[in-house]
Amino acid sequence: MPAAITVHAPATTANLGPGFDTLGLALDLWNETRVSLEGERIVIHTHGEGEGQTLPAGEHLLVRAMRRVYEVCGHPFPQGLHLWAHNRIPWGSGLGSSAAAIVSGLLAANALLGNPLPSTELLLLAARLEGHSDNVAPALLGGLTVSLFQDEQVLVRPLPWRPFQVTVVLPEFSLPTQVSRRFLPQQVSLSQAVRNMARAFFVAQAFAEGDLTLLRQAMQDELHQPYRLPLIPGAQEALAAAQSLGAAVALSGAGPSLIAFSLPGMPPVAPAMQEAFARAGLRSRTFALQIAPQGASLRFQTG
Ligand code: HSE
Repeated sequence: MPAAITVHAPATTANLGPGFDTLGLALDLWNETRVSLEGERIVIHTHGEGEGQTLPAGEHLLVRAMRRVYEVCGHPFPQGLHLWAHNRIPWGSGLGSSAAAIVSGLLAANALLGNPLPSTELLLLAARLEGHSDNVAPALLGGLTVSLFQDEQVLVRPLPWRPFQVTVVLPEFSLPTQVSRRFLPQQVSLSQAVRNMARAFFVAQAFAEGDLTLLRQAMQDELHQPYRLPLIPGAQEALAAAQSLGAAVALSGAGPSLIAFSLPGMPPVAPAMQEAFARAGLRSRTFALQIAPQGASLRFQTG
């Protein structure tokens, strides 16, 4: 059995405009979590994002995910466990911090038990813990994914993509996913569903071709963004500012961050987006990222 395991898990953006709860993309911003079986209790050290906001160990998503694997495999959960979480993905940002924690916990626990669970089972456990599959799928597989979590199964496929430049602007505003989901309609009209469905196909094709013009046209949505953007001061203006500079822009996951796709040589979008948030009284942070081709990975230290 390895003495310690280190898991790297990427940030992810979900929805990509019209692909609500189905499309997801891995981004090259990584959380690093080292897990070792030692001591007689669960100890979690958090560095970077979320430092100083620690939860009781039993409520931590990393530990809950690990526990699920032990339960499913019928093994008693270890009493002594040390976790060092070096977080780069901001919490509650729309960048998949919970998916990264879940995937890290599942992969670490599975490795500690000698990898009894296949990746399909890990994806299903991850979707159950998260409640939807669109962040956990690219967190595990990397790149662009489409997934459907239904009837206790996850149907998933990697989709082809070409690189775009990615700019994420994260305002200092709290909008937990559970809260922002409460603002969504329970029903939409058939014509809205049809338009969204077509746009989601176009988003996938725009990624396959690296066609920013198509992505800009396709990245509109009628299922969630019209209800969520008004909840975030300055978000509609920031989105419009980036669009006017030629970028394809969407709310990242449930927000509050916005994600803009552009091509090299285009004007930077972050200053105009940050200015829009500032006018609404919000400070913001910017992340210049690339699409991550790989999903979460493990490294073992023996000793
Ligand atoms: N698809 C999810 C949502 C992503 O939009 O609520 C957030 O985790």
